[in-house]
Amino acid sequence: MAIREILIYPDDKLREVAKRVTFPLTDEVNTLIQDMADTMYDAPGVGLAATQVGVPLRIAITDTDWRSDEVRHEKGGEPVAARNLKVWINPEFTWKVDTLVSWEEGCLSVPEVYEDVERPAAVRLRWQDTEGETHEADFEGFQAVALQHEFDHLDGILFIDKLSRLKQNMIKKKLKKRKKIENS
Ligand code: NI
Repeated sequence: MAIREILIYPDDKLREVAKRVTFPLTDEVNTLIQDMADTMYDAPGVGLAATQVGVPLRIAITDTDWRSDEVRHEKGGEPVAARNLKVWINPEFTWKVDTLVSWEEGCLSVPEVYEDVERPAAVRLRWQDTEGETHEADFEGFQAVALQHEFDHLDGILFIDKLSRLKQNMIKKKLKKRKKIENS
């Protein structure tokens, strides 16, 4: 088990556009995926993109069977919910519905910030698994939101980019202050 450091906003590396992954996966990439899972469950979180641990590759993992409020209360403890780890490689949305849904989002790279964000309520996704097999499926609700949030990371986009400029500045100030306290 290896926990990697999660980059915190406003780290420049969070703005990198990640590169496509080639198959077969190298040992290095397999280790990265295992470490990402360890890191996400330890945090604890429901999703993590490779970008967030400083590796610019198009890989993200999710476990949306964890309810976010449960996750928040399980910090430091053993997770209560069953694990349903999904690995998404080279994900691409091939369709998004016009209807928007508002969901309160958070992010391991933007700690202690939870804000409502509007996104398409349903999506069709094409992705590859760890064997390089291509899949396509539709997602809605929390899964659709979580996938859009995670894959935005692969393009250097954070959920707070979708908030007002005023709110973004407040968040930046708050996190800079937090960093100072941690470093002192
Ligand atoms: Ni995030």
